[in-house]
Order: sequence, then structure tokens, then C-alpha cells
Amino acid sequence: MKAIILSGGKGTRLRPLTYTGAKQLVPVANKPILWYGIESIVAAGITEIGIIISPETGEEVKAKTGNGDRFGAKIEYILQDKPAGLAHAVKIARPFLGDSPFVMYLGDNLVQSNLDLFLEHFHANSLDALTLLCPVPNPSAFGVAKVDENGRLLQLVEKPKNPPSNLALVGIYIFTNTIHKAIDSIQPSARGELEITDAIQTLIDWQNPVEARQIRGWWLDTGKKDDLLEANRVILDSCLDCNVEGEVDDRSRIIGRVHVGKGTKIINSTIRGPVTIGENCHLENCFIGPYSSIASEAKLLEIDLEHSVILQGAKLETIHHRIVDSVIGQRAHLREADCRPKALRFMIGDDCQIELN
Ligand code: DAU
Repeated sequence: MKAIILSGGKGTRLRPLTYTGAKQLVPVANKPILWYGIESIVAAGITEIGIIISPETGEEVKAKTGNGDRFGAKIEYILQDKPAGLAHAVKIARPFLGDSPFVMYLGDNLVQSNLDLFLEHFHANSLDALTLLCPVPNPSAFGVAKVDENGRLLQLVEKPKNPPSNLALVGIYIFTNTIHKAIDSIQPSARGELEITDAIQTLIDWQNPVEARQIRGWWLDTGKKDDLLEANRVILDSCLDCNVEGEVDDRSRIIGRVHVGKGTKIINSTIRGPVTIGENCHLENCFIGPYSSIASEAKLLEIDLEHSVILQGAKLETIHHRIVDSVIGQRAHLREADCRPKALRFMIGDDCQIELN
């Protein structure tokens, strides 16, 4: 069994963060979204992984993620020259996949479920495709499935105006090599992409064994700011490794579940978990409230922050009102002059400079 993770595409929905970086590298609880997928695949016993990358962000994905050693896997990178669709990504991964069955994982998806049970079901029932589903309130934003009472897939449609059910396709699929034949037989959709939903629909039309199973637990599609904050909240709630490795002075208080990375200094501050703080940060005269993630090398002076994500190297200085529900990009610099609105809400991209006057 092999796996491919799709980490190409354009990522327009998390702009401005993704003007300068890959959306799959945006951190959730200080870990790139993509890495959760890799870890989940490795936990299911699959160690040969191909990552689909784009010309724009591929080098960054490669540099950050490496050859797989840190995950106990062997990672190969496969360049997709344009985002021509999920099925197109499978097509260009064919030399890597050979005739092997494989898991296809969309690199911007985060799920709580383990893959083991789904893989077992796939093998035990000799399926050609197994898709995962999750009920959602807004099915038109996803691929949508119609299934019979035994979980057999009857119909799949990509982002339909009139969805046939509320069951969205989660971005994790398991296939045998018959999917390649189905992909060869489809044409680009109206939006110009080779759709994996069309390829799976072809398998259904050919009456090949194709099933769907609902996942248990949460699924987060981290496409937008609020999804990212929600993913951050859920991960901090469920899998925070609490470990204070940095220096906390005796005027500071650490309350609840908090992680502080190596080389970080916390001076005269209160940190109320769940909170994760990366390495080599400097926090002085701050209150950091629940559900905040602060990436490495950030500097926060006189900041009151809650339910926010601060990316690597950001600098926030003397802001005298609470910052909530915010995402601050890498190396962004915020400082306040002299005004006092009640709350501030930000979505700030990498390298921004903001002064509140
Ligand atoms: O998240 C679940 C949804 O993912 C499913 O419900 C849909 O059926 C499926 O089509 C997909 O929809 P999205 O609109 O969310 O797909 P997106 O274009 O965001 O691409 C998903 C991932 O695949 C993302 O990490 C980028 C990557 N990708 C995408 C395309 C189109 C590639 O690597 N190459 C591509 O050509």
C-alpha cells in the first residue's frame, strides 16, 4: 500500500497568508496541516508516500517536510505543473504508484478518525474505491455523495447547487489501480479540472465495488480563517503535548495545559491554556488566553491575546486592547499608538506592517 498527499493547488481561500506560502504549511497548533496527514498515514502502517507539489510552493513544502525521516517514512515529491484537478494529480503520480493500491489524502484536510478501520474494510471487501463521508450543513461547498443503506455509493457530484444529500466527501480516498483506467476515460469538468469525483462515478457506472463510510469525530477543512481557528481550537483541546521547555520567570503564571518550546522566554506574563508557544519566542508583560498558538521566533510585548494564531517571527508590541479571533502572518509587525476600540479582529498576511493610530 502507498499513499499520495495532494499539496499543490492554489489556496486562494486563505489569502493573504497563501500569497506567500503553501496553504498546507499553515500551522495548526504550531504544526503544518500537511504533517497531520503524513502522521495519520504512517500510523496506519503506510510509509511510502508521494507528495504532489506545485511549482509555486513546492520548494517550501519540500524544505520544511524533508525526505520523511522525521516521520519514519520515505517521501518522494511529484511536481504537478498546474492545478489541473485531483484526478490529474493521480495521473501524474502513476509512475510512483505503479500497480499498488493507495490512499489519496488532500493535504489541507484534518480528520480525527484513524485510517486503520477504513483500510481494513477496503481490503476485507475487495473494494476498488472507498470514500469517506461526513454530514455537513453546507454540502454545496463539497463533493456530495448519495449512498444506499449498505453504504454502497450510488452517485457523486462535485459542489452541486442541489445536493442529493448532506454527506460531503472528506478529502481521503482509498483506491486500487482500477482508478487509473477510470481517470483515463474522463474529460475535464466545466471548471477545467479532471475531477476525482467523475473518476469514482465512472467506477460506479462500471459497477465496480465502490463504497463510502462515514467518519467519526471531527473533520476540518482548513480553507478559511474561521476554519483555521476552529482547527486550532480542536487540536489544542485534544492533542496538546504539555511541556514547558523554555524559561518562565517567577513573576509569570502558567495555568492549565500549556506547551512552551525551547529557548522561549516568558517574563511577567500569564498564560492560560490550552496554549502552545514555539521555540525562541519572547513574551513580556502579556496575557495569553485559551486557544492560542504562537509559532517560533515570535515576539510579544504587552499583548492581551485570545483564540488566535500567530505565525513564525511575528512581532506584536504594546497593543492595549484584547486581540481575539485573529490570524497574524509570518514576520508581520503590529504596534499600537494611541486609540482604544473595544476589540480588534485581524486576518493579516506575511510581512505586513500595521500601526494603529
Ligand atoms: O476537502 C474536501 C473536498 O476536497 C471534497 O469534498 C471535494 O469533493 C474535493 O474536490 C476537494 O474540494 P476542494 O475544492 O476543497 O479542493 P481543492 O482545490 O482545495 O484541493 C484540495 C487539495 O488538493 C489541496 O491541498 C490542494 C490540492 N490540489 C488541488 C488541485 C485542484 C492539488 O495538489 N492539485 C490540484 O490540481
